[in-house]
Amino acid sequence: MKIFIDTANIEHIREINSWGILSGVTTNPTLCAREGREFRSVIKEITEIVDGPISAEVVSFDKEGMLKEAHELSKIAENVIIKIPITPEGLAATKALSSERIQVNMTLVFSVNQALLAARAGASYASIFLGRLDDIGHDGISILSDIVTAYENYGITTEIIAASIRHPMHVTEVALTGVDIATIPYKVIKTMAKHPLTDKGIDRFLEDWNKLNKLISTKK
Ligand code: G3P
Repeated sequence: MKIFIDTANIEHIREINSWGILSGVTTNPTLCAREGREFRSVIKEITEIVDGPISAEVVSFDKEGMLKEAHELSKIAENVIIKIPITPEGLAATKALSSERIQVNMTLVFSVNQALLAARAGASYASIFLGRLDDIGHDGISILSDIVTAYENYGITTEIIAASIRHPMHVTEVALTGVDIATIPYKVIKTMAKHPLTDKGIDRFLEDWNKLNKLISTKK
């Protein structure tokens, strides 16, 4: 499972990218607004840091507006992926862009049926928002798992992105569905690396190592 970071925060992207585990970045208008900077320059900076797909979202509602934004965004760098919400207009825009070989991440996907449409429109990625499904009392993981099965049934190559991940257990559950990609917030990625037994183990190794050095130096 590839790991993407779900943020537009440059410092967080730099830090996690330095671990060598990052395959891409997803942003959305909310995450970009949180940074309080001009959107295109943020996307440009991210494309220079991470060697992988960087999703930048359109904000138009109509096909023509989406296409105009998509063409502008795709000029920023080769690894910019156009994020488009799954609406009838969004599907039509995705079809047009995919026939121009511009890659689309179809976003705000909440059902198997929407995921099937995204694939037929030629989306390279479909983002399934788990946390938001859980928020309204649906089982996000089970819907994600059904989408994985439906895609497998037909050999669909659209990559599934598990998005709206809220906590470390989501990541583990997502991995068990066989999904292609998890896009994960910074805080959750940080938590993934932590385990109390790892910290305890390091303390113990250091303690024993220091004891040995003390013993050796008293014998000299
Ligand atoms: O990738 C989608 C994500 O940014 C949405 O997360 O927590 O706002 O539902 P959330």
